[in-house]
Amino acid sequence: MDPEAILARKKQLESQYGPWSTPVYLGQGIVTSDEPDKSMGTRTRKIVQIVKDIARRPLEELRILDLASLEGQYSLEFADRGAQVVGIEGREANVIKARFAQEVLELDNVIFHADDVRNLSVEKYGTFDIVLCLGIHYHLDVPDVFTFLEQVAAVCLDFAVIDTHINLETAEEVEYQGLRYQGRHVLEHRAGTSPERRQANIWASLDNPHSFWFNLNSLLQLASQVGFSSIYECHIPIWQNMTKDRIVLLAMKGEREFGFSFREKKELLDPGP
Ligand SMILES: C[S@@+](CC[C@H](N)C(=O)[O-])C[C@H]1O[C@@H](n2cnc3c(N)ncnc32)[C@H](O)[C@@H]1O
Repeated sequence: MDPEAILARKKQLESQYGPWSTPVYLGQGIVTSDEPDKSMGTRTRKIVQIVKDIARRPLEELRILDLASLEGQYSLEFADRGAQVVGIEGREANVIKARFAQEVLELDNVIFHADDVRNLSVEKYGTFDIVLCLGIHYHLDVPDVFTFLEQVAAVCLDFAVIDTHINLETAEEVEYQGLRYQGRHVLEHRAGTSPERRQANIWASLDNPHSFWFNLNSLLQLASQVGFSSIYECHIPIWQNMTKDRIVLLAMKGEREFGFSFREKKELLDPGP
């Protein structure tokens, strides 16, 4: 597409769906948004670095799921680097913008679905080497956040990158499947907010008036409970201007190890006197 045609179509989409909220690079010097990236690119760098360092396979061999893909920023980044990417995003306007960028960038290895991430399942979307769970589960409330994270683990073959707010304040307790989790309810939409206003508030949940933010220990307990075998926090690369209540976790979907194997083997080798 020539630059004039790109800009004309971008303008038309903006008049229909509102301005872009994120800077997506469309090539030929065109960016979707003039809004400065608060992290100055360091968040994208962090996510890409984690995926490359941990996967240790060429991106071309990886199937990646990007949950709540917004305007396609991360999906397009990984597709541009050769991965097979599926983005799922609940707001139709975001999906239309992401598909436009995909067309401009001539990427046929990414597909965007307009869907609620609460519909995620292996039956519907298959499995993925890597799941990007960035900025989404803290928009869900209980009990959906529990079933959602179960599905994240179910579709994930290798690892998930979980970028999230955590609760640092006084905690409430909720129960799921007989276990207790600490966290706090956070307002997403005031009572009486119309469905149209909820749709338009793109940094909020799709419909639920509250979400639930876990305490770190409870989130780790839950991630382990749903099937991740080990979990790490990523400190470097630094994401500039990351808030104090935010963390980036790496949740591995390995084979669970059990203790005592060394002792058993030792006894086999050396049965003693
Ligand atoms: C804070 S943004 C995060 C976007 C992106 N993943 C990132 O980290 O930059 C939250 C996104 O989640 C989407 N979203 C919120 N609730 C959703 C749901 N239940 N299903 C699908 N998308 C949802 C919003 O439309 C928005 O695009």
